[in-house]
Amino acid sequence: MADAAVAKKLELGDIQGLVLRAHAELHWASYVFFRVADAAGARKALQALVHDHAITTAASVIAPRHARPRKRLQLALSHAGLVRLGLDEKSRQSFAPEFQTGMAEPARSRRLGDRGASAPDAWELGGGAHQLDVLLCLFAPTSHERDELAAHWIDRLAPSLALELREDATPRRGDREHFGFKDGISQPILRGDPTRDHIPEVDRIADGEFLFGYPNEYGKLPCAPRSAGGADLGRNGTYLVFRKLEQDVAAFWRYFHLEAGGVGAEAERLAAKCMGRWPSGAPLSLSPDHDDPRLGADDAHNNHFMFLDHDALGERCPVAAHIRRANPRDAKGDNKDDSILMVRRRRIIRRGRPYGPPTADPRPLDGDGARRGLYFIALNTNLGRQFEFVQQTWLNNPKFAGLANDRDPVVAQDEERGAVSLPASPFRRRLAGLPSFITVRGGEYFFLPGLKALERLLTACR
Ligand code: HEM
Repeated sequence: MADAAVAKKLELGDIQGLVLRAHAELHWASYVFFRVADAAGARKALQALVHDHAITTAASVIAPRHARPRKRLQLALSHAGLVRLGLDEKSRQSFAPEFQTGMAEPARSRRLGDRGASAPDAWELGGGAHQLDVLLCLFAPTSHERDELAAHWIDRLAPSLALELREDATPRRGDREHFGFKDGISQPILRGDPTRDHIPEVDRIADGEFLFGYPNEYGKLPCAPRSAGGADLGRNGTYLVFRKLEQDVAAFWRYFHLEAGGVGAEAERLAAKCMGRWPSGAPLSLSPDHDDPRLGADDAHNNHFMFLDHDALGERCPVAAHIRRANPRDAKGDNKDDSILMVRRRRIIRRGRPYGPPTADPRPLDGDGARRGLYFIALNTNLGRQFEFVQQTWLNNPKFAGLANDRDPVVAQDEERGAVSLPASPFRRRLAGLPSFITVRGGEYFFLPGLKALERLLTACR
């Protein structure tokens, strides 16, 4: 960490739009991965992207609706990409160690729980399977425009940047992910975001947790990457986590259906207990006994809750539920204020989108043979303290918050069957024999640079 720092205004024209917004109104997205085939040509092509203002900025996505770009592009680089673009070793060593080793490295896999069917040697994206040097995230309002956009950039960057893989996202069915739950509700908001003054203080997080060049939750500037010559490569940039998570939707609903003795409403209740929200997005903390679609749709209220005062034992929202593990809010320790402070240092911005066709029946009991899941995307400046910590110490940890031997019932990718406790009065319910509903199919760590820093980075390459 660098010196104590005072907050300053976000340089919105230099920050990529994805940091501030999910581009949610553009329903069609593609993630296009390239390998560097010719370093000098690739550097020139990437310079041209900056000069032509092709990369969507935060300033342009918070502009009035009519002035926002209709199609959008974000650019990120992996460590392997930096090597192939010719960035020297000393400069590269200033990037985070997790980014340098890459996601598929054995120590990382152990930390992330990527074993068995989720292990990198079985991945279909990244790992040994591909050379993921450069990532373009493309967004458009129609599938036709998305396809045009992808074809345009694949053509324009060739031959020095060669297409390695194109992954197309699917629009969400009614804002919901494939298991059928509303997604994208609870997000940290950058303190410096000028359009989000109405967001409660608890969700307004120091800009430096998500952008280099600004103070973080410790009141310090996060330690930014620098070139060997001393140029700031980090400013207005952040790390981007990309993971392809396959979801077995039929296994999910079959499990809860059986546990519920075939009663649909009870299957939904048990699944909601495991998620921490009802399918509509209404949190169990505010609506413990039934779904409340009006609350789920009410963005002013559907995220206004804490756990400790009214639900310390988890009788409303179980301690092991996905959202309570992923963001324990005020309930990580006995002391509310310490918990809140500690949890603020573990927040991640999520920008994921589903892939694969929606299931014909929203709660299928039989598989249809189609592959579907979530492109999980997270942004943060400290991969170890934020994303990896959440994954390892909160989601995958059987002893999370004093639990006996539970794991995240929704997203743990463990091959062994697990268990989860649903506290209730007078008797708790223990769900056992929980299969894994998620398989990791690939991923990589990327750096999403600020625009001027990208130019400095390309200049520093030889
Ligand atoms: C296929 C896998 C996953 C599915 C289906 C899923 C689904 C969901 C849903 C439905 C919500 C509640 C809605 C919301 O607040 O946006 C949620 C919240 C969240 N998830 Fe996941 N998730 C998945 C994987 C992950 C992973 C791998 C992480 C982190 C490593 C994660 C972190 C979070 C966080 C931080 C929240 C917000 C919690 C809060 O602030 O209340 N999720 N997820």
